[in-house]
Amino acid sequence: MASDSERNERMEKIVSLCKRRGFIFQSAEMYGGLNGCWDYGPLGAEIKRNLKNYWWQKNVIERDDIVGLDGSILTHQKVLKASGHIGGFSDPMVDCRTCKARFRADQVCEQKCPEKPSKSPEENACDLTQPREFNLMFSTHVGASSDEGSVAYLRPETAQSIFVQFKNVLETTRQKLPFGIAQIGKAFRNEINPRNFTFRSREFEQMEIEFFCRAEDGLRLTDEWLERRIGFYEEIGIPRDKLHILDVPDGERAHYSSKTYDIEYDFPFGIQELEGVAYRTDYDLRKHGEASGKPIEYFDEQSKEKFVPHVVEPSAGCDRTILALICEAYDEESLTNDKGKEETRIVMRFDPKIAPVKCGVFPLLKNKPELVAKAKEVKALLAPLMNVFYDESAAVGRRYRRQDEIGTPFCATIDFDTIGENGPELADTVTVRERDSMAQERVKIEQLPAYIGGKLV
Ligand code: GAP
Repeated sequence: MASDSERNERMEKIVSLCKRRGFIFQSAEMYGGLNGCWDYGPLGAEIKRNLKNYWWQKNVIERDDIVGLDGSILTHQKVLKASGHIGGFSDPMVDCRTCKARFRADQVCEQKCPEKPSKSPEENACDLTQPREFNLMFSTHVGASSDEGSVAYLRPETAQSIFVQFKNVLETTRQKLPFGIAQIGKAFRNEINPRNFTFRSREFEQMEIEFFCRAEDGLRLTDEWLERRIGFYEEIGIPRDKLHILDVPDGERAHYSSKTYDIEYDFPFGIQELEGVAYRTDYDLRKHGEASGKPIEYFDEQSKEKFVPHVVEPSAGCDRTILALICEAYDEESLTNDKGKEETRIVMRFDPKIAPVKCGVFPLLKNKPELVAKAKEVKALLAPLMNVFYDESAAVGRRYRRQDEIGTPFCATIDFDTIGENGPELADTVTVRERDSMAQERVKIEQLPAYIGGKLV
């Protein structure tokens, strides 16, 4: 079991690698940063795309009973009034009369006072006000006027557009219960205390499914979705023993939920939520039906009944999942290099389908035109199928290390055998080196797409 200081040190190394190699940068860093906002660099953008594509593939493309939606971010105030967000989507906040900082009232002991030396407000001379509720939504005005009627909000969850489009989706797709509507997209919350790198951000992405069903199936489907979602995390490289299930007790669930499981991951900074699987009952559809005066009902052709469907919601955080994948992948390994010296290999052990670059392509030497030309041919062969990185600078060992550090599962080296200088048997073959085992194998160039492609699914 790692100590707190080892866990902190590991987290610091991960944050530093994310910046150094271009996974994640602080938003507006050159102006001092925008707190709670992050930009994904070239490698982070690839991971994000891989994760979202895999989630969509498994939950929409491969299923007949879930369809997709891409709703607007700007949300009508009436939607969020009916859903209960305008009245109740808030966290308790306290102000300090001495240092003027603002803290989340339920997390005071975990936060730091800005006064130096920085300690928890409870340990410093903070003089805290009574808690008051702080609404987490970002508001804006739509159009030229800025009166009450033009107020709109950046959505605090992707779910609401699914509920308000339920009827349109039902009519256009003719789905039968149980069926789901899935959405991936940005959500915004003006968190009082953004922290732990990207873990609690003000702008983040969600991957949500609203799975509509009959009331009698709600609890059973909640349990089924919990198991399915745990399986998903295992498929993308998070081992079962690092995942925890919290059966959220009465009084701690969101206002719409009668049952919620949190799926948590063992981050270096503690066990924290990745996803909530909530049984939202018929709360949202009923509320929108009542508020709009247009009941949202489902007609069962067999039983001739009309009723408001219930819903089970697996709601995953895209950014939190990426952070978990990065934390899980980070590894340091001691090994002896070619010169007999001990060195540390930093290797990101991403599952190949999540890895930002799938294959590094290297000519053994950059000053041998036949090697360079062949390597560029190999790159051109693979590039339509996967993200490939061509690199001709420095010794091959250094190039391997650079790819290890970003988690590239395969590297193909084009050498003198490839160009037939050592006889015809090995001509048009390359050395494929696997990241984790560092084992090398000779593979025919024409077989490379199938060889590597087969290991990416
Ligand atoms: N529609 C239900 C819903 O939004 P939630 O538990 O508030 O439920 C779902 O959010 C998921 O969204 C969380 O499990 C988490 O992964 C992600 N999430 C929520 N707030 C976040 C934040 N401030 N920063 C990053 N991710 C967040």
